[in-house]
Amino acid sequence: MKVVVAGMGYVGLVTGLVLAEMGHEVVGMEKDKKKRELLRSGIPPFYEPHLEELLARHTEVVYPDEWGGWGACADVIIVSVGTPPLPQGGSDLSQVRALAQEIARAGIGKETVIINKSTVPMGTGGWLSREIHSHMKGQRFLPRVASCPEFLREGVAFYDAFYPDRIVIGADRPTTRAKVRMLFEKIEKQNFEPPPTLERATGKRGRVPVLETGLESAELIKYASNAFLATKISFINEVANICDAVGADIGEVSKGMGLDARIAGRFLRAGLGWGGSCFGKDVSSLSHQAAERGYVARLLQSAISVNAFQREKAVQKLAEGMGGVRGKRVTLLGISFKPGTSDLRDAPALTIAQKLIDRGALVTATDPVALPFAREEGVPFSLVACPYEAMEGADSVLLATEWPDYLDLDWDRIKKGMRGKLVLDGRNSLDRAVVEGAGLRYKGVGR
Ligand SMILES: NC(=O)c1ccc[n+]([C@@H]2O[C@H](COP(=O)([O-])OP(=O)(O)OC[C@H]3O[C@@H](n4cnc5c(N)ncnc54)[C@H](O)[C@@H]3O)[C@@H](O)[C@H]2O)c1
Repeated sequence: MKVVVAGMGYVGLVTGLVLAEMGHEVVGMEKDKKKRELLRSGIPPFYEPHLEELLARHTEVVYPDEWGGWGACADVIIVSVGTPPLPQGGSDLSQVRALAQEIARAGIGKETVIINKSTVPMGTGGWLSREIHSHMKGQRFLPRVASCPEFLREGVAFYDAFYPDRIVIGADRPTTRAKVRMLFEKIEKQNFEPPPTLERATGKRGRVPVLETGLESAELIKYASNAFLATKISFINEVANICDAVGADIGEVSKGMGLDARIAGRFLRAGLGWGGSCFGKDVSSLSHQAAERGYVARLLQSAISVNAFQREKAVQKLAEGMGGVRGKRVTLLGISFKPGTSDLRDAPALTIAQKLIDRGALVTATDPVALPFAREEGVPFSLVACPYEAMEGADSVLLATEWPDYLDLDWDRIKKGMRGKLVLDGRNSLDRAVVEGAGLRYKGVGR
């Protein structure tokens, strides 16, 4: 099929390359000139495992400056532009609106299906069809729109896109759903040859379940899934805070809970809370959408406030452990919101660093991949590539992102260079015995 993917970010670029791998003819529309130029040279515009390799495998994908005739001859157009949060918690649809106008101006075929992969408020599918229609010149048909929410996780985005747990297809017409299903047929049937470094895991051999729904249900499935996972994280963080208060160990408690098949162990890791471009904005947006319709989503609001408190609590622990913050040197191990990505959007490390700076601390941070992106953002703290150098003279160290690079550091060497002794393991990922064995003071989250 001829596929135009609009928006070459984490979702669009990964989706486009995976569809190219399935044999579709892919065009990547991207409004950012710098990104387009990088992509044309085969250079990843952000860090994501396997991205460089997939770009090299699919040099046939084009990244044009203009729509030209691409829209008119496309079987499907995939919308994967950003939907960032508005200050009041709703979703900013300005990128989707601008894209709708561009699509209308470029012209589309009567049979072209617009597939929305961006996370958008319920009702956006219908609105998008009308919005494109209102800008179309001399064409009378209402464009066909489907919602196909994306569930990939940054850091394992290609794996998730090749081997998803499910494919959700929301549309009002069976023929629209059928076309989307055809696009993802090989993924559904898992009858493609995996790229050399992205082998299927043994548990992933069968057909991928496909759920066909109405438009609004598909849109809500995405929000509800993220809200559930985010709430699960806030739940375990709340239990971890109770562990701190009563002297229990969250590792043991999570394990004991997770062995119950009804609860399941994933997303029961206490720490600094969620971050990234999705959970915060999607939970806020869902709560906001509910409020707009007169329903107060109390559980979602609590999940948000527990998450915000987790960052504050880390600062409080550092302050307690160092006897105050003013004039103290704190080193953050990791800045990206989670390992495996350079994404800094809503990263807990950034909020914590800002809180520490506001209270008079001197902050240094290190990260295996995010430093150039942090530099570009102009973060208000020092960036040092070598973790050992970054911890020289520190009063305390906070593990903010559990990159594998930081899990077997030489703590004897670190102890010699540090001024203080506090190590706050914000991700409960360090070996406590090793840290304490080096003569340092270990603090975790709920343990
Ligand atoms: N990042 C994730 O892990 C993830 C997972 C699932 C769903 N989503 C959702 O997918 C959507 C995209 O997220 P993302 O992280 O890929 O965003 P992103 O910001 O990384 O990428 C969006 C891209 O779209 C481009 N763009 C904007 N307007 C455009 C236009 N008119 N034409 C062409 N390009 C345009 C931007 O320049 C940018 O490169 C969001 O709605 C997000 O909530 C993201």
